[in-house]
Amino acid sequence: MDMSLGTQIRADFPFFERHRDFAYLDNACMSIRPRPVLEAMTHYYEDLSGCAGRSNHRLAQAVTEKIDEVRGSVQRFIHAKKASEIVFTRNTTEGINLVANSLGLVKGDVVVISDKEHNSNLVPWLYLRDRVGIELRVMKTSRTNEYVADNFESLLDEKVKLVSVVQTSNLDGVSFPVEEMVQKAHEIGSLVLVDAAQSIPHGGIDVSKLNVDFAVFSGHKMMGPTGTGVLYGKYKWLDAFSGFMVGGDTVERTSYENFTLLPPPEKFEAGLQDYAGIIGLGAAIDYLEQIGLKQIREYELGLNQLLTESLEDQSRIQLIGPTDYRLRGSIYSFYVDGGDSHQIALMLDQAAKIMVRSGQHCVHSWFEGRGIAGSVRASLYAYTTEEEVIRFCSELKKILTVI
Ligand SMILES: Cc1ncc(COP(=O)(O)O)c(C=O)c1O
Repeated sequence: MDMSLGTQIRADFPFFERHRDFAYLDNACMSIRPRPVLEAMTHYYEDLSGCAGRSNHRLAQAVTEKIDEVRGSVQRFIHAKKASEIVFTRNTTEGINLVANSLGLVKGDVVVISDKEHNSNLVPWLYLRDRVGIELRVMKTSRTNEYVADNFESLLDEKVKLVSVVQTSNLDGVSFPVEEMVQKAHEIGSLVLVDAAQSIPHGGIDVSKLNVDFAVFSGHKMMGPTGTGVLYGKYKWLDAFSGFMVGGDTVERTSYENFTLLPPPEKFEAGLQDYAGIIGLGAAIDYLEQIGLKQIREYELGLNQLLTESLEDQSRIQLIGPTDYRLRGSIYSFYVDGGDSHQIALMLDQAAKIMVRSGQHCVHSWFEGRGIAGSVRASLYAYTTEEEVIRFCSELKKILTVI
């Protein structure tokens, strides 16, 4: 494996030119953007600045064309059948809320999630439980946070209307076998939503092969702008939805008495959109495709191997998830008996400008359920270098001698 990808592409990121001494290892929270993404956004503001789908002048037409182009890029990128199955959102959270509020779930309907969902894929369902009376079933994972087929199957019956699970966990980088889960869910007539926020940036997704009904992700974790996201939905479901946030640009016509909604995806994209952001997201997709998702994935595994093996002899480190780095993708998450995760993160930053995430990573339920206060999470990406991983390991070892 060529371990030079990180150093090869560094020059594409103005952020690293400004902060040469930073070791940014908080990529599961937020990624850094390459120059083409920043330039695409600036191009919108400096050269276009119009709105899409409304005015008829040349600027508006140019923006409309650009947005259509990006929709086509997303469709190709995730292997959707139609561009109209791609709805632009602000983030993963909005996509899940849109589905939760459009499915028309009623009292007694069941939604199945896993025991390691991000709050974004837990709270919307708890909300519906409290407001509507749906039942929420939680699939237990193994001691090492992995999928257990029996635990999943035992929750499935005809009352289940939706299985909503994370593809790759932000807690530990472990992935679920989504294709197998989709098959089982479909056998009992349930739909499946996949939270792909952490999987798409590091390996992509093929929604057609997985046969998922919905997939959601955020631009900011895949080198795209903040405030951008995507909801993929099979056209027949999006078409059947009655709309969630409605208003300008979601309607074909209105009168004082009634309105007719546009077909998907427009009926879900209410109000003026983040055109600069969407255009930037398109540039991020082009950039990721240019490097190659397979190459990114393999490179990150190489880095995680280095990280995992360097810390193997540290008996105070309690690794979250399996010890095999190949099962944890780009994440190394751990806690230290007798050590505070926030204090460790602060010491890493203050002593060596190493940025990691600490705490419960919006997976409070998992930590509360196990009585663990929080973890330190180092998360890698294509531009992470071996030098940064080595620096992280050696600083952490120093910290472990003083806390
Ligand atoms: C697995 C997972 N799901 C959902 C989210 C929420 O993403 P956003 O805040 O962009 O909506 C995150 C963000 O960390 C995540 O890691």
